[in-house]
Amino acid sequence: MQYTSTEIRQKYLDFFASKNHAIIPSAPVVPENDPTVLFNTAGMQPLVPYLLGEKHPSGTRLADSQKCIRTWDIEEVGDNSHLTFFEMLGNWSLWDYFKHESLAYSYEFLTGKDNLNLDPKKIAVTVFEGDEDAPRDEESAKIWEEIWMPKERISYLPASENWWAAGPTGPCGPDSEIFYWVGESEFPPAGSNVENDEDNWMEIWNNVFMEYNRLEDGSLEKLPNQNVDTGMGLERIVATLNGEKTVYNTDIFDYIITKIEEVLGVNYEGNETCIRIIADHARTATVMISDGVAPSNVDQGYVLRKLMRIAIRQAHKLGFKGLFLSEVANVIIEKLWAAYPHMIEQKIEILSEITREETQFVETLEKWLKEFDKLVKWFEIAFERTGKKVDTIAGNKAFKLYDTFGFPLEMTVELAEERGLQVDVEGFKQAEKKHQELSRKWAEQKFKGGLADASQATTELHTATHLLLAWLRQVLGDHVFQKGSNITAERLRFDFSHDEKVSREDLDKVEEFVNHAIQAGMSVSMEEVPKQTAIDRGVVGSFWEKYPDIVKVYTMKSDSEVFSVELCGGPHVEKSEGMGRFKIKKEEASSRGVRRIKAVLIKD
Ligand code: ALA
Repeated sequence: MQYTSTEIRQKYLDFFASKNHAIIPSAPVVPENDPTVLFNTAGMQPLVPYLLGEKHPSGTRLADSQKCIRTWDIEEVGDNSHLTFFEMLGNWSLWDYFKHESLAYSYEFLTGKDNLNLDPKKIAVTVFEGDEDAPRDEESAKIWEEIWMPKERISYLPASENWWAAGPTGPCGPDSEIFYWVGESEFPPAGSNVENDEDNWMEIWNNVFMEYNRLEDGSLEKLPNQNVDTGMGLERIVATLNGEKTVYNTDIFDYIITKIEEVLGVNYEGNETCIRIIADHARTATVMISDGVAPSNVDQGYVLRKLMRIAIRQAHKLGFKGLFLSEVANVIIEKLWAAYPHMIEQKIEILSEITREETQFVETLEKWLKEFDKLVKWFEIAFERTGKKVDTIAGNKAFKLYDTFGFPLEMTVELAEERGLQVDVEGFKQAEKKHQELSRKWAEQKFKGGLADASQATTELHTATHLLLAWLRQVLGDHVFQKGSNITAERLRFDFSHDEKVSREDLDKVEEFVNHAIQAGMSVSMEEVPKQTAIDRGVVGSFWEKYPDIVKVYTMKSDSEVFSVELCGGPHVEKSEGMGRFKIKKEEASSRGVRRIKAVLIKD
């Protein structure tokens, strides 16, 4: 029997709904108000404030299918399993059930006759072996034994395997991972488990017991509440259930691959790697654009641009010259919109954004090829003039071509070879390593501070963001909506829809109004209402589709004036007292039709 992704996603959500979980919509792939990461890389990321104790409007039991993007293994895409975009099925307990129910639910969903119906004999698990941070997780092991699991299938592993955290700070805890037998024999031999037979067991689900918070200094504190965070990759579970070794042989990719074969006029067979890269990158790019990312040279926009460029280059490699990506994106939307309806509503905009970027890049590509020819020509001239043969392209030059234009090393090598030249591959790798170290450092630095730590400074800036939006709308008009927000303890950065530069006079007006609200002894209150009621009341919000049926509406007002009424997840200050003086430091373009403001709160 073939399982489809739509079916498995639905089964999962139905199962947890039957266990009294509220089914919440996926958040966009770009985190809101969270400067710590460029993209949501796990289902729990949009839920960090709730894992830290904030009340969730949908209750204490939640489940969803969250769109996630992980680009750190981008070079591996094309093999059997690596993807840059995936859907993570997850269920959460926010100070509700803990280890026992969590593991029992997972087991019931995996093995239940009406659920995935997997054979328990093909399941193994791991639990945390304990260290100076937290004790050995005998409790989970005992629960597994009670549920069914023979002792020999339970492995105790160290924190490197069985401790989960989204970053260096924030909620974290020991986890118990569930594996499925993928070895040659039908059943695992006696005594086989994840510790002694790792390659034959595929991880399918992770249950994290989040009862700790990692602080800036690296120490752990117990959270006031015990939470559960689980994650199961949809693509992987669908492949595993169908006995497939690769995620590309599932309904998730087969129609994309067929479309690519058709538009490029090539066969998948023999061109698997190129076509897989195109399929994966096109899918990720389509999802990013549907969530408001526009191609640019910084942050998320840069990643989007790079993915598209690599995909286009792969098509060139297959001998195709022309535009094709929007046709591929079209079938991707057809497949995903049932789960993420806003994709179909924005179809025309998504496709035209893709075509615009693709057209521009194809032109760049032609220019680049000319540049490459020039370089070769220069080598020849140098030879004629000096008699010294230069036949190697330096490593840092090759890396620059890769990093700036998204040209894979292998393409530079190929082109070089065609012209009788070599590339300093070792030098390229060194340049790449240096770059990776720098970006890791950058990512770690980005992790520090921000709303993830819910500090007073970030909370105040978050509140100021609401006032800023309210007054931008007053001064510039109702077309202004939030397009993105990124807050650190030092400053806020706010992106909004607006076509042209905002004059200094208008910025002064906005600043004055925000400061007026702060000085007016403003208080902040929160009300939970049905989403439709909020829409009907004209509450300001972006990305409505990501919010659950019951939403939180934050009102900022003084005794005599209402300053802002906005949809939000929180947290906010209760009173404006002590927020300081609001100052806009910078206003600039962020991407097409989007402006960016950086502002601070000055404590005089
Ligand atoms: N947050 C956990 C993970 O991503 C469930 O594996």
